Amino acid sequence: MGNNTEVNKGVYVLIHEFDAVIVGAGGAGLYAALEASKTAKTAVLSKLYPTRSHTGAAQGGIGAALGNVDEDTPEWHAFDTIKGGDYLVDQQAAKILAEEAVQAVYDLENRGLPFSRTPSGRIDQRRFGGHTRNFGEAPVHRSCYAADRTGNMILQTLYQQCIKNNVHFFDEFQVLELLLDGARVVGVVVFELASGEVHVFKAKAVMFATGGFGRMFRITSNAHANTGDGPAVAMRAGIPLEDMEFFQFHPTGIKDMGILITEGVRGEGGILLNNAGERFMERYAPTLLDLAPRDMVSRAIMTEIQEGRGIRGDRKIDDYVMLDASRLGREVVESKIPDIADFCKTYLAVDPAQKPMPVQPTAHYAMGGIPTDIDGRVATADTVYEGLYAAGECACVSVHGANRLGTNSLVDLVVFGRRAGRHIAEYVTGAAMPSVAPDAGDAMRERIAKLKTESGDHPGPIYGRMQSTMMENVGVYRDEARMTRGLQDVKDLREAFKAVRVQDKESRFNTEVLAILELENLLDLSLITAASALNRTESRGAHSRVDHAERRDEEWLKHTLAQIENDDVTISYKSVDTSIWEPKPRTY
Ligand code: FUM
Repeated sequence: MGNNTEVNKGVYVLIHEFDAVIVGAGGAGLYAALEASKTAKTAVLSKLYPTRSHTGAAQGGIGAALGNVDEDTPEWHAFDTIKGGDYLVDQQAAKILAEEAVQAVYDLENRGLPFSRTPSGRIDQRRFGGHTRNFGEAPVHRSCYAADRTGNMILQTLYQQCIKNNVHFFDEFQVLELLLDGARVVGVVVFELASGEVHVFKAKAVMFATGGFGRMFRITSNAHANTGDGPAVAMRAGIPLEDMEFFQFHPTGIKDMGILITEGVRGEGGILLNNAGERFMERYAPTLLDLAPRDMVSRAIMTEIQEGRGIRGDRKIDDYVMLDASRLGREVVESKIPDIADFCKTYLAVDPAQKPMPVQPTAHYAMGGIPTDIDGRVATADTVYEGLYAAGECACVSVHGANRLGTNSLVDLVVFGRRAGRHIAEYVTGAAMPSVAPDAGDAMRERIAKLKTESGDHPGPIYGRMQSTMMENVGVYRDEARMTRGLQDVKDLREAFKAVRVQDKESRFNTEVLAILELENLLDLSLITAASALNRTESRGAHSRVDHAERRDEEWLKHTLAQIENDDVTISYKSVDTSIWEPKPRTY
């Protein structure tokens, strides 16, 4: 394999040199690229065409205390975020999130994002779960939205701005390896889908913004591309992952398929019903009702189902409840939630303006990920990595703690994507270009060649068994016996994975190679998720154990840091910043 170090137009190169390399083209990656490109020659590497990134699936809005509809303050937003996260949130980070959300929304508006409007022409706002007025009194209109296409509009807006700023895009490039020299980043190794070649990107700064890893579960709102590439690659380079036991199940996925039905439906006044037509959230969250935080609503739905008040699916595990938006009227459905109305007509032949939608909890969002500080720098308990950044769902700042509030994912990725980009822009101006080892990339080339030259097993069955065991054993409700089973299953699957090979031997667009690389990432992250969950002997936020039902601050008010060593998971801890509000029991 002859490496070509020229970077001339028209010459096919395998070694590239940029000041900043951003891996991932969702909202966090694009915002960071936009800021970094003010001083840095910046590349974005994306496994997809950028505007297909999963940020585009975020429907209901971005939370910011604009106060356009109701009185609101960033302080209330920060408080709700911390309480919603069951006090595992780092509080100064949450304060930054809430304060900078306001300017971030106006920045997006100024860059052209077509927000929905109030009758007087201001950015409209809707209610969302766990967002309240005056420290929990009642739901507040805080979510700024563009119908139910908010994430998609953020992507389109930022992508256009990046093109304008001469950011270099490498589409359909899959990250394989992070290159470190001690605690300093020097580059990344990447697989190009179109050619099957392995490239090396040398850089002063590298940022991971690769999104989530919901594909480890059978029912998920996540796109097929959400395979945790950034966290898995960072972890294999020696960086432990934070709070991986906390995985959010969104209460309302389309039954059996998991496709997201936005919480904005409930924000607009939709309600959840059981098989008796009862608005069951009255029993679980008397003040916020259907707009309680997601962990509570998902548990309420699962309890209704387990106690026989769900609607029967084909099998017991397929039981579901109803989400009724028909009470909103056709005009609201068609103007405020048009995409989900289309999904329901397409996939279920149900018109939500007429009939309730069948829903069940769907694996939606990873609260854990690559540990960072408030400037997006990758930082463990004792090490700040030089030139290495992460933001968005693949990172853990931590502003979501044990349970993220709806709308705060978009806030997180614009606020911390922007902060990381600004930090990168400053950092690269004073940093020298590092060198990479001459054999960088060779190990990955050999690995891919081996997948193709030897014969072996197909990855499909392993993928399916991983998703089933994670869903059944590390889902909404957990206990020691199930998690132990899940952990052992994932260990066995990682062993079986060693015999996997591709059937398709071609170089160009070999999606089988890609699928195997993605499965490896998901298996590693499943192992860490199951082990971290089994280790935490309490219930907090989305981590709900029937055998340890209480939150236990005296032992567990701490972040988990987990790493795979010799096929086993080692765990250490990091303290939580509780410098603003004292942890209290959560009631809604
Ligand atoms: O329900 C939703 O629209 C999802 C939003 C989010 O995850 O923040």
